Amino acid sequence: MDRIKAQFLGLAVVAAVASMVLCSCHGTQSAVATKEAKQKMDIQVESFGSTPEGRQVRLYRLTNAKGLKAAIMTYGATVISLEVPDRAGKMDDIVLGYDNLDGYLKNSPYFGAIVGRYGNRIGKGRFTLDGVEYDKLAINNGENHLHGGLKGFDKVVWDDEPVWRPNGVGVKLSYLSEDGEEGYPGNLQSTVTYVLTNDNELRIEYEATADKATPVNLTHHGYFNLTGGARDILGHVLALNADKFTPVDKGLIPTGELPAVKGTPMDFTKAAAIGARIDDDYEQLRFGGGYDHNWILNKDGKELTVAAKVYEPTTGRVMEVRTTEPGIQFYSGNFLDGTITGKENQVYQHRWGFCLETQHYPDSPNKPHFPSTILRPGQKYETTTIYRFSTK
Ligand code: BGC
Repeated sequence: MDRIKAQFLGLAVVAAVASMVLCSCHGTQSAVATKEAKQKMDIQVESFGSTPEGRQVRLYRLTNAKGLKAAIMTYGATVISLEVPDRAGKMDDIVLGYDNLDGYLKNSPYFGAIVGRYGNRIGKGRFTLDGVEYDKLAINNGENHLHGGLKGFDKVVWDDEPVWRPNGVGVKLSYLSEDGEEGYPGNLQSTVTYVLTNDNELRIEYEATADKATPVNLTHHGYFNLTGGARDILGHVLALNADKFTPVDKGLIPTGELPAVKGTPMDFTKAAAIGARIDDDYEQLRFGGGYDHNWILNKDGKELTVAAKVYEPTTGRVMEVRTTEPGIQFYSGNFLDGTITGKENQVYQHRWGFCLETQHYPDSPNKPHFPSTILRPGQKYETTTIYRFSTK
């Protein structure tokens, strides 16, 4: 702990010097703003228990200059709480999860975690790469491979270090996934940096390098409920910046088609309540038990663009998602069925949370016409996703 405190002090001094340098070139106004921000931003590190193998788990409590709070633990690089204001300024925790580590160790449908090496499904747990067949990915979802396998990135303890930036505080988490882990080729070194910025954003920066060609598709699996858990998520109003989606078969593997959403219940190009069409008699909704699909974002290339906006009318909370990724999985919490009791004894009923997972398309390693998810030695995997909170 002493070492950590000392490190913090050192970093705080560096941050202070950095902000003074910034201030002198931006004039008095920003000098005042930066000074205020620096005073209020905070990082506290606590022990959050240990895994059955004896690995210590740490919890980072982040506070930004506006009073937003995020708690992130090193097990699964998991956001366990995120407190944001409603239109009256009342703070609520707007993500699902557990009060303690035990809940996450025993039974978590990826609450708040980073999923990897490959977010979402790879059909039958196999793919061919550079003429070599890899057919031993862990099968953990029917006949398919889901979210990196039996022990994906959501179930490992990440290394950690605090992050102080002029405009936010965070934690940088690192994990080395070894060659052969869950059936994947190559050592993969990943880092995920969460920053809670003073613009009320949870910013997530992903980086990875590998020593053999391997598929990589990292994402964040937060379950949001902008009411703060007062009711299910069907009244949230969603807009997706996507004219097309990737339909799936019964096992939720993309068929490879890329149809337009126009005229279907998958059309969120104009904002609509999540619940408005979710039970329509439409094959894709039957297969997913609701929404559980990848939308193809309207964009060229890798620029950071708006992917989704969600508005919750009773609290006025708004969440905007921006990403460099080409796709987004909108999952309406269809597998939540009241069997999980989460934080503060709250029972997570059907569709009590929704996920917006920025990503490359599911099963890309088996779909040559989808954007490639292959990372090769010498290349750097770099993506950014930002969840921004406001009210109206
Ligand atoms: C998937 C769902 C899956 C859920 C896990 C989502 O990303 O699309 O099919 O059930 O994660 O809880």
